[in-house]
Amino acid sequence: LLAQKDGFRFFMEKEIYEQSVVISDTLMGRLREDEVVFDELDSTLFDGINEIKLCACGTSYHSAMSASYLFERYSKIKTSLEIASEFRYREPIMTKDTLFVAISQSGETADTLETLKMAKAAGLKTLVICNVDNSSMVRVADAAILTRAGIEKGVASTKAFATQVVVFWMLSLYVAKLKGSLTKMEIAAHISTLREVPSHVKVDDEMHERIKRVSKRYLHGHGFFFIGRDIFYPLALEGALKLKEISYLHAEGYPAGEMKHGPIALADPELFTIALLPKHLHYEKSKSNVEELSARDSTICAISQIPFDKADDFIEITTCESYMLEFFEMMVVVQLLSLEISIRLGNDVDMPRNLAKSVTVE
Ligand code: G6P
Repeated sequence: LLAQKDGFRFFMEKEIYEQSVVISDTLMGRLREDEVVFDELDSTLFDGINEIKLCACGTSYHSAMSASYLFERYSKIKTSLEIASEFRYREPIMTKDTLFVAISQSGETADTLETLKMAKAAGLKTLVICNVDNSSMVRVADAAILTRAGIEKGVASTKAFATQVVVFWMLSLYVAKLKGSLTKMEIAAHISTLREVPSHVKVDDEMHERIKRVSKRYLHGHGFFFIGRDIFYPLALEGALKLKEISYLHAEGYPAGEMKHGPIALADPELFTIALLPKHLHYEKSKSNVEELSARDSTICAISQIPFDKADDFIEITTCESYMLEFFEMMVVVQLLSLEISIRLGNDVDMPRNLAKSVTVE
């Protein structure tokens, strides 16, 4: 089956536009009124588990970091996070009350696969969140939850990331029910918000046009900082990674509150700040961090539902009542911004230099 671009300029663009459909697919059959069901999981998987350890590489590592916020906040379970290539060699302590969770689009990334085998050998229960059925990781792990993103062709991952975060949000509610850390009513409220995600990631033509226009200011300069707090920090990391991968511009993701501890020294008009300013999570705190950067003359592109007068560019997201919906809206914005910057620079978005879709060697 030959994948087609269906009129899009690049597979990455097509895949950004597909997110609404693949998120619906990923939710399908898994949401009840006030509980999440995973038919593929044995109900005893979480018995005796006091900690979740998440391990991945690249974009999957960023979705894992998002998950660490959700598991601690909603499931009230201690969660730790590991980069696979580090975990492999640092002689980690593994205790049997830990559920080891590997995250991978392909299920073949060598470092992640190896950590899964290590955890299994140490007697830990293992789970993989994966996009490819029957991949090596799915075969090794005790249990698997499949993201249903379909084949992802773009080397820069988009829809796989989106479905991973959706799976983690569902899994955090699944565990919250087991642990009683959220009430039925709270879970029901989350589920109705989850159902709204597909409509919030649909690309709006006007917004895409706006991002195309905005992108022309961000082609040079000496660097980008994507900044956010809380779960918007991993989204900032992911935004910066997307930009690096396909534009070859230097970009960093940073916790907004940490800028004053060093990076703000770089601020000048050629330093581009992409600010994630959710209305429903630490808005005032994040805003004041962006104001500090603006006062030092950094060029600011703010992404928010609240107009921000200190911004040089403002990309408005749809009004929504949940920070998780803001998360998904902003995810689409940072993906499109990277795409448009890369296209303006004349790069091959789908085949960025030096990168491979799946890294099966160390
Ligand atoms: C490669 C890809 C990245 C991906 C990473 C992990 O570096 O270029 O886009 O995030 O591998 O891949 P995985 O398949 O394990 O999610």
